[in-house]
Amino acid sequence: MAIPESFLEELNARTDIVDLISGYVTLTKKGNRYWGLCPFHSEKTPSFSVSPERQMYYCFGCHKGGGAIQFVMEQEGVGFPDAVGILAQRVGMTVPESRGSGDNRKKRERLYQLNREAARWFHQNLMAPENRFALEYFTNRGLSKRTIVNFGLGYSYDRWDMLIQTMTGKGYSKQELLDAGLVVKNDKGRLYDRFRGRVMFPIIDLRGNVIGFGGRVLDNGTPKYLNSPDTIIYNKSKNLFALNLARKSKQGRIILTEGYMDTIALHQAGFDCAVASLGTSLTPDHARMIAQRTQEVVISYDSDSAGVNAAQRAIQLLDKTGIRVKVLKVTGAKDPDEFIKKYGAAAFQKLIDGSENHVEFRLLQVKGKYDLTQDDQKVACIQELAEVISRLPGSAEREVYGNRMAKEMEITPETMQREIRRSQKRQTRWEEKQQARKVLQPVQMNQPESRALRYDNMRSGKAEEGVIAMLMNDPNLLSKVRGLSPEDFTVPVFGRIYQLIWERWTEDRPVSLNALGPELTAEEMNHLVSILQQPISQSNQEQAMEDYINIIQTEGLKGSGTSDLDDDALMAFREKKSWRNQNE
Ligand code: UTP
Ligand code: MN
Repeated sequence: MAIPESFLEELNARTDIVDLISGYVTLTKKGNRYWGLCPFHSEKTPSFSVSPERQMYYCFGCHKGGGAIQFVMEQEGVGFPDAVGILAQRVGMTVPESRGSGDNRKKRERLYQLNREAARWFHQNLMAPENRFALEYFTNRGLSKRTIVNFGLGYSYDRWDMLIQTMTGKGYSKQELLDAGLVVKNDKGRLYDRFRGRVMFPIIDLRGNVIGFGGRVLDNGTPKYLNSPDTIIYNKSKNLFALNLARKSKQGRIILTEGYMDTIALHQAGFDCAVASLGTSLTPDHARMIAQRTQEVVISYDSDSAGVNAAQRAIQLLDKTGIRVKVLKVTGAKDPDEFIKKYGAAAFQKLIDGSENHVEFRLLQVKGKYDLTQDDQKVACIQELAEVISRLPGSAEREVYGNRMAKEMEITPETMQREIRRSQKRQTRWEEKQQARKVLQPVQMNQPESRALRYDNMRSGKAEEGVIAMLMNDPNLLSKVRGLSPEDFTVPVFGRIYQLIWERWTEDRPVSLNALGPELTAEEMNHLVSILQQPISQSNQEQAMEDYINIIQTEGLKGSGTSDLDDDALMAFREKKSWRNQNE
């Protein structure tokens, strides 16, 4: 890896992993770790932990783990050099240029610049007097000048190659224009602008980069909207339109719409938390991105049957994430944009306030299950209602629903609240137990798929885990290690890691997750981090190390075929000893 190690260590020192991950996941401190909902798989109770002390994260549910760099790689779907670039940018460091490395990063950087220039040019076009009709298209649809500027809206000329001319004039190559998806090649190999004669919507990611565009015809032509294809900087299933703005909203929810125009109209009306998926139905990635940033999502899709179907799918995905999901019934208008225009922002707010709530829906379902004329059934019903209510995140909510249900069940509000609290306690206890179980679960319970990670000899494998965990914690323990060679390890990846630690330690190079990162596959890294989750006792480390090594060596002898110490095994044993002697 061509990025200098000293740079990585400096980057590591300046990056606080809790701070970094807090930008993506809501974390709560418990003991010496922070916990949150895993950004890499869907879950309702937190299995994802971050250790500030050891600067690493680990999910006890999906077993992903690593340091800051691995987190960015996994989260942003980028390779090692790009992840380093992102982290460096974050702390104001510049990655030193070196041959071969960062090529991809440079390429991405160029495409960001190109898109930014293109967006600026489209915007200028929109403001040019000769294109007044395009600007009027937006103003006729009720957009203010301010909104148009805020969203950086634009216009693409109805010519074949205006953009190609302009951007090559600014020094971008045709290949770059193709790579950015701004230009298409026809069968005859001719290049022409993808977006022609359309009003333009730039798509901006969370770091403020222009990553793609949508373009709408001004009349009834087809296709109505044209979107950038997926490129090395744009993946439509991982980006939401206007999330860059919505994530700064103070409204405590995200409103999910189907379209560019809906989102923009909502922002203009003061709902600065609106986003849209981009010419695609909602994906699990979208759902997670939303759940990471808010506790409540309001689905506000078109009122036609396509919209209702899409909402059903979106509910399923969003509900899995455990956040509150509400569905708006837009009546009297085909979509939120039209609704606001017809009835105004206050009416829309009313829609949100009265939007169908999953809680009510669920309480209704519970009540339907029981015959309330029977006392015992009524008691069971009350308990189940309390259970549903106890899971609501807000105390006001629990009180409101609790009181309403108390009335319906003809018991006092106090009794109901007591039931709710009981149910809450039961749940917390259960969750704590689950979490403790997860933490204590031995790693080999989740036997990895990959060969390199297999445990052929459980006893030895466990001891190897111990050795690696202790050395990662304090590489200087190597000075006490006698007679252990990489070949002694029965789990191949531990042998490799041992060798890496050993090399680095003798060369006085840092031993850390960050340092080992480039040398390990993602799967190996996950596994390494998983074994670092067990607490290491600080006392008597030398004794522990010796015990582990003993186990590894005796198991190693047993493993070589017969249980008797035959000559071959003895020879092998002696050879290993001599390896040790060389290292002394
Ligand atoms: P709509 O047709 O509802 O879009 O499609 P809209 O934003 O409300 O459009 P206006 O109000 O007529 O301008 C919803 C979304 O589906 C995608 C776009 O992202 C659009 O915003 N779409 C729609 C396409 O990608 N291509 C199309 O041809 C149509
Ligand atoms: Mn629409």
